[in-house]
Amino acid sequence: MALPKVELHVHLEGTIARPENTDANFMSLGDFLGVYDKGMEKLQTARDFHDVTLAYLRRAADDEVRHVEMFFDPEPHMERGIAAGAMVDGIEEAIDTASRELSTPAGAHITANMIFSWQRNRGVRSAEACLQAMAPYVGRVVGVGTSSDYVASWPEQYAPLYHKAESLGFRKCCHAGELTDGSDGDWSGMERALKLIDPERIDHGYRCVADPSGRLLEAVVEKQVHLTVCPLSNARLRCINSLAEHPLRRLIDSGCNISLNSDDPGYVSDAERHLTQVFALCSDQFELSLDELANISKSAARAAFISE
Ligand code: ADE
Ligand code: ZN
Repeated sequence: MALPKVELHVHLEGTIARPENTDANFMSLGDFLGVYDKGMEKLQTARDFHDVTLAYLRRAADDEVRHVEMFFDPEPHMERGIAAGAMVDGIEEAIDTASRELSTPAGAHITANMIFSWQRNRGVRSAEACLQAMAPYVGRVVGVGTSSDYVASWPEQYAPLYHKAESLGFRKCCHAGELTDGSDGDWSGMERALKLIDPERIDHGYRCVADPSGRLLEAVVEKQVHLTVCPLSNARLRCINSLAEHPLRRLIDSGCNISLNSDDPGYVSDAERHLTQVFALCSDQFELSLDELANISKSAARAAFISE
């Protein structure tokens, strides 16, 4: 699809090709994260971070993606002895090279930002050490997110760290409203994250429709908090049983500010890897008009952490 696109939700570690002996059908988010955490051990040096980033930006540029915001998870890499500066240098060099040398089929340039992400299952002490390690790179790293497994009361636990990160100059987003199991990965964790963390963007967030009072969906629309939804990922990781169960149509019709994203493109099948395929499959499933598709790209561009 020649539509210019912006991708706000892709994990650098999720762009690495999945190990050969695993298939793209995961039983759950937890099942996926086990494979993902193992897969990222391949990243050892600044050069590895560079190569994986540049390879992804090349594929994105070929797919008419004009801007990418990429998460990376410093904590497991730090645990293996990799310095924060090595990660940032490697990723940044690839972004610089991509912006100088790559162009899309339509002849546009590609730009990219990096966002560091806390692995929520590691706890706040690890997150605090991670924030300290990332603090010198604020600006080169534009924001902070939270991903990985959902733990009980994570919004309460992480809110103070988010305030600290914000005061250092990091823009705020978090994974929330991804699970359908009634845990704090479901709508109630998202509701409290919205109040306590006040993020500019929520990654996934589609479960806002599940609040029986309807208030969470209303708040998302009223605040125009941007949701970086990833319907194919949700179906692949079995958060929902099939794409048809995703409330994308309802989110759009309710006036939510959303973008479409790939999440972990290395771990899905070839037919679902590229953002064009995400757009095409969602467009078929939810009968998205060309205007709606164009609005998704515009909304993503407005929600990018480019400048305040
Ligand atoms: N890390 C990588 N992909 C993720 C996802 N879909 N949810 C939570 N954490 C992740
Ligand atoms: Zn994600």
